[in-house]
Amino acid sequence: MSLFRKKSLDILMSQAGESEKGLKRTLGAGNLIALGIGAIIGAGLFVRTAAAAGGHAGSAVTLSFIIAAIGCAFAGLCYAEFASIIPIAGSAYTYAYATMGELIAWIIGWALILEYALGAATVSIAWSEFLNKLLGGSIPFEWSHSPLESALDSVGVLHHGIVNAPALFILLLLSLLLIKGTQESATVNAIIVFIKVAIVLVFIAIGWSFIQSKNHTPYLIPADAKDALQPDGTFYSYKGFFNHGWGGVLKGAAIVFFAFIGFDAVSTAAQEAKNPKKDMPLGILGSLVICTVLYILFSWVLTGVAPYTDFVKAGKEASVAYAIETYMAGFGWLAKLVTIAILAGFSSVILVMLMGQSRVFYTMSSDGLLPKVFSDLHPKFRTPYKSNIILFVFVGLFAGFIPGSVAGDLTSIGTLLAFVLVCIGIIILRKTDPNLVRPFKTPLVPLVPVLGILVCAAMIISLWGTTLLSAFCWMIIGLLIYFSYSRKRSKLHNPSEIVPHASDFE
Ligand code: ALA
Repeated sequence: MSLFRKKSLDILMSQAGESEKGLKRTLGAGNLIALGIGAIIGAGLFVRTAAAAGGHAGSAVTLSFIIAAIGCAFAGLCYAEFASIIPIAGSAYTYAYATMGELIAWIIGWALILEYALGAATVSIAWSEFLNKLLGGSIPFEWSHSPLESALDSVGVLHHGIVNAPALFILLLLSLLLIKGTQESATVNAIIVFIKVAIVLVFIAIGWSFIQSKNHTPYLIPADAKDALQPDGTFYSYKGFFNHGWGGVLKGAAIVFFAFIGFDAVSTAAQEAKNPKKDMPLGILGSLVICTVLYILFSWVLTGVAPYTDFVKAGKEASVAYAIETYMAGFGWLAKLVTIAILAGFSSVILVMLMGQSRVFYTMSSDGLLPKVFSDLHPKFRTPYKSNIILFVFVGLFAGFIPGSVAGDLTSIGTLLAFVLVCIGIIILRKTDPNLVRPFKTPLVPLVPVLGILVCAAMIISLWGTTLLSAFCWMIIGLLIYFSYSRKRSKLHNPSEIVPHASDFE
């Protein structure tokens, strides 16, 4: 039995074709771009920009965004080719099953859990921060932080977190919505996207006049930068290779890379696209371009309004509202408005992440690689409710008990790994199936995928340390499960069991 057995493109095409009976093809290119922006703009921009600037890149975090965007653009071009050839849910996992075989598909599917499940956890932690900010900090530190976090209060008392209760609350609420089958309609998503983009533009426009050039000078953090005071009273050092200069910019890129995650989620809507062959590439690449421009402008303004050292201490949480309140006199109303818009925006990201995860689980379960419980549908709502409940518990453990930065870095590693494998997949498919009709062709193959691999690998390396070790342990657990369970139960064992599956949802 081969570890590299592949799911044939014919089977995948027939599954994509079958889905037309179940899922309505209603989304045009505009809707797909909106869907992408809905999934992309979230905690990465509103929380991690400040974390990357404060700890590693300083005001050169704009360069970090450009590096991360380049890596995403290369990977995005590869995603676009796959999505135009195989317009079916399952995204990178499905593409790998068709090109690199079952073991690699499993590895990608397992890495996607880091992307979607931990991505949802990270954004729910950010949601909790902004809710607390909106409520004037009235949620006690203990009940809004993980046990791994502590901070001094204004009178010098040290507080330790117990559980992040608001993060659990929003996850529960959205999981229940998903079980009920409440999907974001294109219209609702478009409204949220409109609010999110409007707030980013308003912040850029108003904040521009509050930029102080001294905050952008020196642009990169100098090697001899003074240690910065942290919320728990200790000092943060900029001496390490990844804490100043270009090393810091690269590390910053790996941190803000999180802000781009989600453009690949467009590919999970392939079965609802009116004209997937043309519109999927437009949706993926269009949302990526729009967000990149917004991110560069936003990070330039944020680090121009507030000095980067503020983001290690008081301005670490809910950084945008902090910067407005502290440095933009007379715009307190904007801080409130920004916070409300961000809370709405985060909710849509969490929803898409949880939904994306359950779709990937569903596909893996339908392929026999995960237990059937992940593809059991609710008799009335026709949603994978058991999977949603298990997911809530799993994601909740991360959201409630680990810090957002740890969950965010793990999310980035999982996604970067999937990107690297998708880039490799394009090179393989060009060799194994050169004559396949490709409605969208990645330009300059193998140069573009190879550059995608290099940039994404560089970002993985800059996350070196406990995060990489944790991701490595996660992958080992995944391989143990594959070899002890999934390999024997795979439906490729018995092709007659392979049935179209994506049409089951309503
Ligand atoms: N890109 C999404 C965010 O930043 C995951 O929240």
